[in-house]
Amino acid sequence: MSLSTSKLKMSHLEPQEEAQQQAPKLVDKHGRHIDYVRLSVTDRCDFRCVYCMSEEMTFLPRKQVLSLEEIYQVAKTFTELGVNKLRLTGGEPLVRKNVMSLIEKIGSLPGLNELLLTTNGSQLEKLAAPLKAAGVTRINVSLDSLDAESFHRMTRTGKLDKVLRGIEAAVDVGFEGIRLNTVILRGRNEHEILDLLEYAIGLGINIAYIEEMPLGEVSDHDRLETTFSNDDVRNVISERYTLSAIEETTAGPSRYYEVDSHQTRVGFISPVSHNFCDTCNRVRLTVEGRLLLCLGNEHSMDLRKVLRENPGNDDILKEHIIKAMDLKPLRHYFYDKDEPQLVRFMNMTGG
Ligand code: 5AD
Ligand code: SF4
Repeated sequence: MSLSTSKLKMSHLEPQEEAQQQAPKLVDKHGRHIDYVRLSVTDRCDFRCVYCMSEEMTFLPRKQVLSLEEIYQVAKTFTELGVNKLRLTGGEPLVRKNVMSLIEKIGSLPGLNELLLTTNGSQLEKLAAPLKAAGVTRINVSLDSLDAESFHRMTRTGKLDKVLRGIEAAVDVGFEGIRLNTVILRGRNEHEILDLLEYAIGLGINIAYIEEMPLGEVSDHDRLETTFSNDDVRNVISERYTLSAIEETTAGPSRYYEVDSHQTRVGFISPVSHNFCDTCNRVRLTVEGRLLLCLGNEHSMDLRKVLRENPGNDDILKEHIIKAMDLKPLRHYFYDKDEPQLVRFMNMTGG
C-alpha cells in the first residue's frame, strides 16, 4: 500500500483509535519497546565454525523444529504487534529447504521496514539476486579470514573462494549496507584484523568485529584463552587508521566508527565487555519456537506449544507474545565468576 492510501485509511479512524494503533504494543516491565525480532530458521549449517559448534554436532529432529508455515505465522503476528524489523538467522538460514518461499512471504508483510539476513555466504553466489527480489534489505556475512587454509581451519568445512564470490555477488546486485561479521580469536586470526578491514574498504562495505561469546561448550579451544577483546582490535586498527565515532546507535551491543574518509563503517560488537541492556529492543525466536527474551539469560516462552495447541489462531499467539514481554530480564550475565553461564549454542539461538 502506498503512503497516501495508508494515510487515507488512517483518517477514517477516531483520534483515540488512531493513537491506539500507533502506540507500541510490545513494551516490557522496564519500559523498553520491542520492535526487532531475530528468527532462527534452522539449527543446521554447512560450516562448523570453531567458536560456534563442536566438530560432531547433533541436530534437532524435524518434529522439534518449527515448520516454515509456523515461522511465517510468528513473523506475521509480530509485525501486527508493531515489530518493524526482522532478522533471519540460523544456523545457516539459506540451507533450510524451501527457505526462499518463506523469505518471499515474510518480505511482503505490511508493516515491515527492514528484513535482514545473517548468512555464512556459502549460498550467496546463487541467492543474492533472489534475496534482493524477495525484499531482503540488508545482509550480514560472516568472514573470519582471507586465507583459504586458515578460513578452512576456522570453519572446518568452509570454502573461502565460494564465500568471497557470494559477498561480491551481493555487492553486484546492489545490496546496501552489507556487513562482514568477524570473530577474532587470539592465536588464530588476530593478524588478519587489518586485511579484513581493507577487504571491506575495497568493496565499500562495512565490517563488525564480534567478541566471542560463551554460547555452548565447544570442543576445540578454551574460550577464556582465545578471547580477543574489541579494545585490542581497535588498537590494532588505530595504528593505521583514524576511527571517528558515529553517534547513531542501533540499540544493540554495537558501536560504529568511520575509517578515515572511506565509505566503510567499522562496528565493534562487545556483548561481553559492554552493557547495552537498558536500550535493548529485541527478542529472539529459536528454531524450536522458544521465544528468548535475552541472549544472555534462559528466560523464555514456548511458542511452539502455543502454535501447535491452537493451530492457525493468531489471537492466542498474540496474547502469549504480549505476556512473554513481562519475562524480559533487566540485563544479561554471560559470565558468573568467570564460569560461562549458558549451555545454549549460537546455532540454536540465532546470532
Ligand atoms: N561468539 C561470537 N560470535 C559468534 N558467532 C557465532 N558463534 C559465536 C560466538 N560464540 C557469530 C558468527 C556470525 C554471527 C551471527 O555470530 O560468526 O557472524
Ligand atoms: Fe554455521 Fe554461522 Fe555457526 Fe559458523 S557461526 S557454524 S557459519 S552457524
